[in-house]
Amino acid sequence: LSTIRVDVGGVNEGSQITVQWLGKPVFIRNRGQAEIEEARSVDVSELVDPIARNENLQGEQPATDENRALDEEGRWLVMMGVCTHLGCVPLGNGAGDYNGWFCPCHGSHYDTAGRIRRGPAPTNLPVPLAEFVDETTILLG
Ligand code: FES
Repeated sequence: LSTIRVDVGGVNEGSQITVQWLGKPVFIRNRGQAEIEEARSVDVSELVDPIARNENLQGEQPATDENRALDEEGRWLVMMGVCTHLGCVPLGNGAGDYNGWFCPCHGSHYDTAGRIRRGPAPTNLPVPLAEFVDETTILLG
């Protein structure tokens, strides 16, 4: 099957889970207010990669936090847990200089929206097809 359902009812604010989908890790994070505000205060023109990289959107949209988060409020962030440099799995839970994710392989720093901010990775962590199908279930794919 190319779709999976993930129960996120137990994922508390400020924490995340990693699930395997199509042989790759997917990060699902329930962000705290400070993370959301940090992500939303960034000027897109300052970003290394200004494109949203969100498969749920048509065409190339700007990499605003609103264009990467799953829900309007921005609590939920779902992304492939694969560094866009050479494919290592970044560390999360506030890692790196931008309080998001850090790839220890060659030092790529991603922010609280999973956007690349420093290091060799060329693009933001991709957001896969995902949607809430009920209050606590995310459908991937
Ligand atoms: Fe992540 Fe190189 S694979 S920085």
